[in-house]
Amino acid sequence: MDYGIKGQTVLIIGGARGIGYAAAELMAADGCNVALADINGDAASASAQKLAKSSGARTTGLKADVTDLEQVKAMMAAVENDLGPLSVVVNCAAVLDDRLFADSSPADWKRMVDVCLYGPMNVIHAALPGMSRRKYGRIICLASDSARIGQARLSYYAAAKAGVIALVKSVAQEVGKDGITLNVVSPGATNTELRQEREEGMRAQMGDEKYAKRVQTVLKMYPTRRIGEPTDIGAAIAFLASRNASWITGQVLSVNGGFVMP
Ligand SMILES: NC(=O)c1ccc[n+]([C@@H]2O[C@H](COP(=O)([O-])OP(=O)(O)OC[C@H]3O[C@@H](n4cnc5c(N)ncnc54)[C@H](O)[C@@H]3O)[C@@H](O)[C@H]2O)c1
Repeated sequence: MDYGIKGQTVLIIGGARGIGYAAAELMAADGCNVALADINGDAASASAQKLAKSSGARTTGLKADVTDLEQVKAMMAAVENDLGPLSVVVNCAAVLDDRLFADSSPADWKRMVDVCLYGPMNVIHAALPGMSRRKYGRIICLASDSARIGQARLSYYAAAKAGVIALVKSVAQEVGKDGITLNVVSPGATNTELRQEREEGMRAQMGDEKYAKRVQTVLKMYPTRRIGEPTDIGAAIAFLASRNASWITGQVLSVNGGFVMP
């Protein structure tokens, strides 16, 4: 598909796997140079090599911890040195905790906010100067529908993601005049390793029979009667990254099979 992104240099943070990697595949197939950064540097390098092989795109894989602004800045400089000026930056890095709020601790909240709220702050802060100079940029952050409607057992994840939505809307108002758009993609349940790890935990806790019932209950919550695949979300990211999306900024696009319609 032609998303109108040919020739762009794209950085996906948290791109070693999951939704980030699916977005990378779509954008590489459309003629972008793609950098994958991840706290798991070996996985990022392996995924970048796999992507170069399957798409023929120029790729690079780097290690960076999104919670550390200096690391994020150094990583972006290395990408620009290797692949050229960044026009698209996508932040997918996240962690998840499946826990009742009453059972959580300040250390749990801190880890979550560090990755899921300070992370996007670091990424946006590091990306803006170059994009402002060049008068062009696309920044896309991943949130979650739990941020829009709340979700039991995901309270502080949802709170951090709600912060991302407010951050993106606010910065979008500041930099629209510089040709930079910022948007949020808000997935519903999507079949990635992150979700699979959570589901395995539930199956272990509930037992097979109860878990099978839960799967059916969850599917009934989705008008489309399936959970998402990474490419469902990747396609929305690729669209918002395109020149065609130049008049869309400060928006939250739920990609969720109709799970909620906020
Ligand atoms: N999968 C879902 O059902 C779902 C639903 C709603 C929202 N989301 C959001 O979509 C995004 C992508 O999710 P996914 O399911 O592909 O997750 P994933 O776990 O498969 O991928 C996330 C990546 O982020 C990396 N990462 C974690 N901490 C990091 C850090 N400190 N610095 C850099 N990288 C780090 C991980 O190593 C991993 O490769 C996340 O923001 C997630 O919150 C996912």
